[in-house]
Amino acid sequence: MSQNTLVLGLQWGDEGKGKIVDNLSQDIDLVCRFQGGHNAGHTIKVNGEKTILHLIPSGILHKNSHCLIGNGVVLALDALDKEIKQLKIRGVDFKKRFFVSSACSLILPTHISIDQIRDKKESIGTTGRGIGPAYEDKIARRAIRLGDLGDTYKLQEKVELLVNYHNRLLKNVYKDRTHDVNEVFGEITKYIHLYDEFCVDSQDLIYNFVNKNKSILFEGAQGTLLDIDHGTYPYVTSSSTTAGGVSTGLGIGPRFIDKIIGITKAYSTRVGEGPFITELFDQSGQLLAKRGNEFGATTGRPRRCGWLDLVSLKKAVFINSVTDLCITKLDVLDEIEIIKVCIEYSNNEPIYMEFDGWLSSTEGITEYSNLPLKARTYIEYIEDYIECSASIISTGPSREQTILRNT
Ligand code: IMP
Repeated sequence: MSQNTLVLGLQWGDEGKGKIVDNLSQDIDLVCRFQGGHNAGHTIKVNGEKTILHLIPSGILHKNSHCLIGNGVVLALDALDKEIKQLKIRGVDFKKRFFVSSACSLILPTHISIDQIRDKKESIGTTGRGIGPAYEDKIARRAIRLGDLGDTYKLQEKVELLVNYHNRLLKNVYKDRTHDVNEVFGEITKYIHLYDEFCVDSQDLIYNFVNKNKSILFEGAQGTLLDIDHGTYPYVTSSSTTAGGVSTGLGIGPRFIDKIIGITKAYSTRVGEGPFITELFDQSGQLLAKRGNEFGATTGRPRRCGWLDLVSLKKAVFINSVTDLCITKLDVLDEIEIIKVCIEYSNNEPIYMEFDGWLSSTEGITEYSNLPLKARTYIEYIEDYIECSASIISTGPSREQTILRNT
């Protein structure tokens, strides 16, 4: 029996999913994205070469894997085109192995304008990629979907209706510049080759893979605390980043998800605004930011850093039915003298448990038994608290800098 695996973030994104998905997808038949858009940024390092993927599943780097962008994703055609071109230059082949669901809602230039002007007032700290407004139109049943490119006559009508609506918002509510309907139409049809080459009925595609007992990997973007329902609302993204999003974002029942790998950093980070109870403003925070190179892969913004929050991690494990924990960036803690984890909240203040730092290098260690005892004590405390074992521990950015346990 082949196994289908979900990989998702348990914090505010940037947990290092790209590397883990890349590691796991070597022997996977189909790798799928099910939510989000090009707000995500998955950094993968292979043979010293860095690749940042925003939309295309990381499986594309393994020539035997197929890749699908599912209906739950909001799609910016220009971003997709750019990413495909960049990968093609590096010799990546897309023919008959890359697919995009006809039911993906498109991100238009007007969505980007609305997102950016609104964020100046609402200060969520969005990535400014038009994600929120595109999901609003999807839910309001007025979105343009990739499949609409199959009938340019009807498409023109739909674009006119939608862009006129956006223009009313931009002009009357946000006092911003409007967009020319024909220009937006031209921006969409410019990428008709993407429709011709890659658009599929993704329900059929998934059904065929499941039926043939092929293995599937579901690649989450962002993280549990950014989920539209379960995150730190309203400081969240506009999609279902948690396990439930797989079923709606791809059209596959939960029964077909066999293994759920939840990823957490060995500490916490967050980009953008919103609550962060264990945030650090002292030297330890600066050290985490520096050693962890904590800058957003999509926007380059510095990430806020803090201690690991076990209260929220335990909740995230439950919400997602996590079967396997993955701890990333353990080596970032190598030089920290006292490491803390939050084990309780009292009047919105964190109560910490303290650990002596191991003060030696864990970088690149591949055997659990070779980790310093103090690092193992830290990991085992986390496992006991959240009642889930850590089967993957990452000790550096490269594929091979990974400890695999009990798998
Ligand atoms: P949006 O997804 O652009 O609407 O942004 C909403 C919130 O999600 C902001 O706080 C962003 O910083 C955050 N966000 C979106 N995508 C990512 C990501 O891939 N990593 C981390 N934070 C993200």
